[in-house]
Amino acid sequence: MTSGAAALCLGPNGSGGFTVRQFTRRSPAADEIEIAVAAASVNPIDVRRSEGYGRRLLSLIGAGTFPLVLGNDLAGTVTAVGSRVATFKIGDRVYGVKPASTAGTHASHVLVKAIHVLAVPEGLDLHPLAAIPYSFTTMWLAVRGAGLTRENAAGKNVLVHGAAGGLGTLATQMLSAWGARVTAISRKSNSKVCLEAGATEVVERTDELFVSLSRSFDATLNFATWEDDRVLLGCLRDGALGHATTVHPMLGNFDRLGWLRGMLKTISQKKAHRRALPKGASNYAWVLFKPDKAALDDLRQFVEHSHVSLPIGLCKPLAAAGVAFDHVRKRQPGRVLLLP
Ligand SMILES: NC(=O)c1ccc[n+]([C@@H]2O[C@H](COP(=O)([O-])OP(=O)(O)OC[C@H]3O[C@@H](n4cnc5c(N)ncnc54)[C@H](OP(=O)(O)O)[C@@H]3O)[C@@H](O)[C@H]2O)c1
Repeated sequence: MTSGAAALCLGPNGSGGFTVRQFTRRSPAADEIEIAVAAASVNPIDVRRSEGYGRRLLSLIGAGTFPLVLGNDLAGTVTAVGSRVATFKIGDRVYGVKPASTAGTHASHVLVKAIHVLAVPEGLDLHPLAAIPYSFTTMWLAVRGAGLTRENAAGKNVLVHGAAGGLGTLATQMLSAWGARVTAISRKSNSKVCLEAGATEVVERTDELFVSLSRSFDATLNFATWEDDRVLLGCLRDGALGHATTVHPMLGNFDRLGWLRGMLKTISQKKAHRRALPKGASNYAWVLFKPDKAALDDLRQFVEHSHVSLPIGLCKPLAAAGVAFDHVRKRQPGRVLLLP
């Protein structure tokens, strides 16, 4: 096999910097395919991981040791196929996700499990698709964690915090397509983005925001900040479906407090919030990204019907990974892609 190139993240001791490193490509395992990456997205979690965030817990799955290659999703072309893979062949265009590891998707060639990728529908470009799978999967896990499904979503009132971000936009697109009424919380300047994604109503993010919201929601989704998690629970009506957050403190607790105190703190915070659910509400979820077959099945349908998309703000080669990461770190608009 020939060589590939990857943006190697040097980690906190290397100031979160990068170097492009050549590596020898290996053949796929029986259930894997190799993909020549056309584009891979840079997400807020990549920026935080580059600074050491989540290191202790991620070390359990071998993803905490620097230097490492970040990135959890990609779009590209199949270049090799494992012996037990019947779903793809060399030359197929695909997009999909990869669980956290030290060999992420910010590389020219990536090995992924065939069950974690989807075929790109004819006529669609690879680049915009690379921005979606990781965020869609995490968003989908949150929606399900709050008790919402394709079957029960119609007519439900859902409050989405962080609605103008990547997860928030995708949640608004998916839930409105499922017939839910989405109330989006965002900065005033992002109202239009939220309405275009399908929100019924946009509430401006201000200090008094939660005073103005009533306890009328069937589900609440927090993609913005842990500080607001408790008050979001106060927006649920009695008998609501529930709440999910992707911005919980679990990984940070283990980093700061170690294994035992980190676990105790995590359990007590989660219990305290669960106790704040209104009467009759049963779902309360802290979401951690992982590939999920049902999420990918829904993603396939939404992509085929052009119901999901995210604006791209910046595209950079692997050699400019630092610039791409800065764009995300500074929360500049649009999703960011690395183009190997
Ligand atoms: N647990 C997991 O496995 C997992 C996986 C994926 C993502 N995440 C996390 O989920 C969050 C959403 O991801 P994303 O990709 O959608 O991020 P994003 O595109 O940066 O969007 C985040 C949104 O939240 C708002 N926001 C950020 N900080 C806020 C604050 N302090 N107060 C109020 N609003 C705030 C932002 O609003 P403005 O732009 O208006 O400031 C933005 O609309 C991120 O924190 C990410 O790290 C977790």
